[in-house]
Amino acid sequence: MDKVIAHIDANKERYQKELFELLRIPSISADPDRAGDIRKAAEWTRDKLTAMGCEARLEETGGHPVVYGEWLKAEGKPTVLFYGHYDVQPPDPLDLWETPPFEPTVRGDNVFARGSADDKGQFLANVLGIEAFMQADGGPPCNVKFIIEGEEEVTSHNLEKWVGAHTDLLKCDHIVISDSAQFARGYPAICYGLRGICYMEVFLKGPAMDLHSGEFGGAVTNPCNALARIIAQLHDPETGKITIPGIYDDVVELTKEEREEFAKLPFDEPGYKKHLGVDALPGEQGFSVLERVWTRPTCDVNGITGGYTGKGAKTVIASEASAKISMRLVPNQDPDKIQQAFEDYIRTLCPPGVTVRFENHGKAKPALVPTDSPALSIARNALEKGFGNKTVLMRGGGSIPVVETFQDKLGVGSLLVGYGLPDDNLHSPNEKFSLEDYHRGIKTAAYLVDELAKAS
Ligand code: BES
Ligand code: MN
Ligand code: MN
Repeated sequence: MDKVIAHIDANKERYQKELFELLRIPSISADPDRAGDIRKAAEWTRDKLTAMGCEARLEETGGHPVVYGEWLKAEGKPTVLFYGHYDVQPPDPLDLWETPPFEPTVRGDNVFARGSADDKGQFLANVLGIEAFMQADGGPPCNVKFIIEGEEEVTSHNLEKWVGAHTDLLKCDHIVISDSAQFARGYPAICYGLRGICYMEVFLKGPAMDLHSGEFGGAVTNPCNALARIIAQLHDPETGKITIPGIYDDVVELTKEEREEFAKLPFDEPGYKKHLGVDALPGEQGFSVLERVWTRPTCDVNGITGGYTGKGAKTVIASEASAKISMRLVPNQDPDKIQQAFEDYIRTLCPPGVTVRFENHGKAKPALVPTDSPALSIARNALEKGFGNKTVLMRGGGSIPVVETFQDKLGVGSLLVGYGLPDDNLHSPNEKFSLEDYHRGIKTAAYLVDELAKAS
């Protein structure tokens, strides 16, 4: 093991160069114009896996390709499957970036670029941890498989089918995913729960055409007004609860032990507020901030359109207004059931004079992995060795759709070993990743396969 770690230390600069190459590819899965760059990132990843000694190829899914790689020469040893995603979120709004999103720039200990933490830097750390064994020790101590996908940021819907059709290929003993974060600097964490999502768009249609707001104002239902009223009714202003009937029916309540564990975590609320630039954190009554973010459902507007939004004033009543609304889901909420409840409720809120139409932009089930498995203890140890600090257990508010798919189709729970930090600005301008944490992540991956192999 010593020579593997020494090898990692000796290659620090090369690792950064390789990450920067990948970060320069604008592999934005949501943007159809970037299909060429998506493929480039997939090919880069495949070529990386091939060059280090894996058998690797692109697998077509009907959407953006999955990169599959394997090295299966450790006979009789367990198989560890690493998952990651090479696609990234759109970088907009561009003018808020201090340096361009696809020109990786180092400031202090951080590299700034879209995808640096989410998820290129994190999955590459795992790839390089395995590469170190290949270059310094003849190969890793266990079998490894990689699936690096290109549609995570657009809900992984093609991957779910692909995984279902390739359960033999993906057969494994452990799954490792580095696509979450540490609890805070100095508190490396294993994430054991993720929220799901049901992402809807609501379209309200009023008059057949945009109207003069003086000639017709007062005569018709204004779709923008109606939409605002509907949105305003989605939460109870007193309790902060979502008003959609039945939304809490299947929610698994926190245990007393879990609440105690969360309360023990060194959550820096003033620092959190400061980072977010807000002076208060109101929300569902009776729950702490961490409880709300990790274990409670949400209903959030992600964007609203309608009417005149250009410069100056234009007196107009729009013919249509729309809102993108996502609901984060927690165990055991079912995204299909929630979609139905949402649509039914919005219909009841719709005033006369407008008609409503819905579109779904993706669904993912929430996930919880057992915290008492031997593999999870091993992952905690490996992270502790890699980061030199004690590991904490936490949950995450985001979603990684494939975690539930793996549980369902392969029967394997994922080890969510996060190398990022909570202030890495995922999906925001100025996304960053600590280069020290990148390096520690590479070591963690090496310790992890070493210990998983020893434990078998
Ligand atoms: N890596 C994130 C999810 C995440 C973030 C997990 C922080 C834990 C902590 C992932 O890339 C992501 O952003 N997922 C999307 C999925 C959605 C499009 C289905 C999300 O959560 O919005
Ligand atoms: Mn991610
Ligand atoms: Mn993401």
